[in-house]
Amino acid sequence: MSEPLKIAIAGLGTVGMGLLKLLQDNSTTISQRCGREIVVTAVCSRDRTKDRGVDLGSITWYDNAARMASEADAQVIVELIGGSDGIALETCMNALQAGRNVVTANKALLAHHGMTLARAAKNSGASVHYEAAVAGGIPIIKSLREGLSANNIQRICGILNGTSNYIMTRMRNESLSFEAVLKDAQDLGYAEADPIFDVNGVDAAHKLAILASLAFGTEINFDAIHIEGIGNISLSDVEYANELGFRIKLLGIAQRTETGIEQRVHPCLIPASSIMANVEFAYNAVEVTCDFAETVIHVGPGAGAGPTASAVIADLVDIARGHTLPVFNVPGDKLAALPTVPMNEHLGKYFIRLKVTDHSGVLAQITAILSKHDVSVESVLQRAQDPGKPVPLVMVVHETREHRMNAALLEISALDSVMSEPHLIRIELH
Ligand code: HSE
Repeated sequence: MSEPLKIAIAGLGTVGMGLLKLLQDNSTTISQRCGREIVVTAVCSRDRTKDRGVDLGSITWYDNAARMASEADAQVIVELIGGSDGIALETCMNALQAGRNVVTANKALLAHHGMTLARAAKNSGASVHYEAAVAGGIPIIKSLREGLSANNIQRICGILNGTSNYIMTRMRNESLSFEAVLKDAQDLGYAEADPIFDVNGVDAAHKLAILASLAFGTEINFDAIHIEGIGNISLSDVEYANELGFRIKLLGIAQRTETGIEQRVHPCLIPASSIMANVEFAYNAVEVTCDFAETVIHVGPGAGAGPTASAVIADLVDIARGHTLPVFNVPGDKLAALPTVPMNEHLGKYFIRLKVTDHSGVLAQITAILSKHDVSVESVLQRAQDPGKPVPLVMVVHETREHRMNAALLEISALDSVMSEPHLIRIELH
């Protein structure tokens, strides 16, 4: 066998410990596949004294990850600290400037500083690997960079946040409110250090930014993403969606249109019979629509120690085998800056939920406004509750541009008969 590949690990949280365990448990299999051993020579974590149930005695311990990245006896620095800036960025930059390869699970860092890291890697001849940054155990980065590399990609659509998917699944299955499920999702350990990123769509957007760059050969452009989370989805939205034959999922979608690239993260109604609708709990899914391979769907666990460590080791195996690629698939100077399509140009169907007074002529007023803006109603649901009390009114409208929908809703919300802000959820049929 060749010389071992020496690695240093920055961060011994859930994923870092999962990595140590997997390297230990499957060491024979991994060494055979690499043609050499992978040896941990250094680690950095906040608490040296914590009993982690693993013997770290022979490993050099650092208190500062950025210093470890410059000094450790290692060819690879594995960054598992998290966070888009600060010590994680410093650690990766130090490693790359010292000509050491970086393996990271840090989607926030890549979404915000991916181009900076790519330039640093090019300058020193090192590489950056990030299979674990998107969709946990699903090898979606490898799939885009290698398996599907012959194709022009038209669209990526993914369930990219396990925490949100877990919440939406339990709301539907058990008729629970958002608030009732959020705490359980956090206790299960899927959530980000700042769990607000899970429910406000930012974590999914970090991942989408990476996928969009790989799929379309563009520079990462996090700021171009329209982001909405699941915080406003009520149990009644879930129930009405169910009744109409849909399920609600937080999706990240990037697609080519005639005028540019549309990138968006928001809750969507999708047909209940679709594969994506049946990806439940903390599972992730990524659907890639290609010109020759057609539509390829990847499903698997999107978070957790084992799946994420598995993805980190896939990158280490690549490095051990001497298999490296440009950071974002094509050389940095070939990445295009394609125009962004603004969200108000989005073409789609919509679900609208209103609370209205239960009087004659209310529906007529609302449909008149929709018609004035060229928005055509496909179906209406209204169930009378207590006579004289406001009632929920749910509508599905045919495909239209979002600016028409917004203009109509602005007028509708000003009607005396409309008792609360209209609630809109986009529908994705394909
Ligand atoms: N917080 C993330 C999720 C973990 O819930 O999907 C994996 O990135």
